[in-house]
Amino acid sequence: MKTLVLYKSLCHGNTQKVAAVIAETLKAEIKTLEDTDRERIPEYEMIGFGSGIFYQKHHKTLFDFVESLPETKNKQAFVFSTSGLCLPEFNTPLESVLKKKGFQITGSFACKGWDTWGPYKLVGGIAKGRPDESDLQLAREFAAALPLK
Ligand SMILES: Cc1cc2nc3c(=O)[nH]c(=O)nc-3n(C[C@H](O)[C@H](O)[C@H](O)COP(=O)(O)O)c2cc1C
Repeated sequence: MKTLVLYKSLCHGNTQKVAAVIAETLKAEIKTLEDTDRERIPEYEMIGFGSGIFYQKHHKTLFDFVESLPETKNKQAFVFSTSGLCLPEFNTPLESVLKKKGFQITGSFACKGWDTWGPYKLVGGIAKGRPDESDLQLAREFAAALPLK
């Protein structure tokens, strides 16, 4: 199944680490959002979309990218994120936009990521050292359990 793992990781490289192990497990192509050619999206049967969480949702550029895609059918998508608090519901807004575009959501993964937002910076951030090896192992297990058509 031709798969792309597409991510935006701009704070500390937290989401990049998760994207890398998911792509490795799926033997998928991996690209940053900036390096992704929108014209090539129709080539993939499954796409994973991930970023850090900014004010309780994925990065705005990821939403803009998905909104700019044509409507699709028969394509699977999964969503992943890293954030200081790691609430599963942070993934819901991006899932909703993908569903509206016609993607079938087959998985959702969230884990902690070092967070130096605003006042947290004064104390060295929260979730320091995350994602750690156990988070990355959970990401591998998540990827291995995704249904392949
Ligand atoms: C401006 C800003 C807003 C953020 N908002 C949230 C948030 O609402 N909830 C949360 O848990 N983490 C929040 N974070 C923390 C990031 O989601 C976290 O550091 C993430 O792992 C960054 O991923 P990256 O290193 O791949 O960019 C925020 C960070 C920044 C800089």
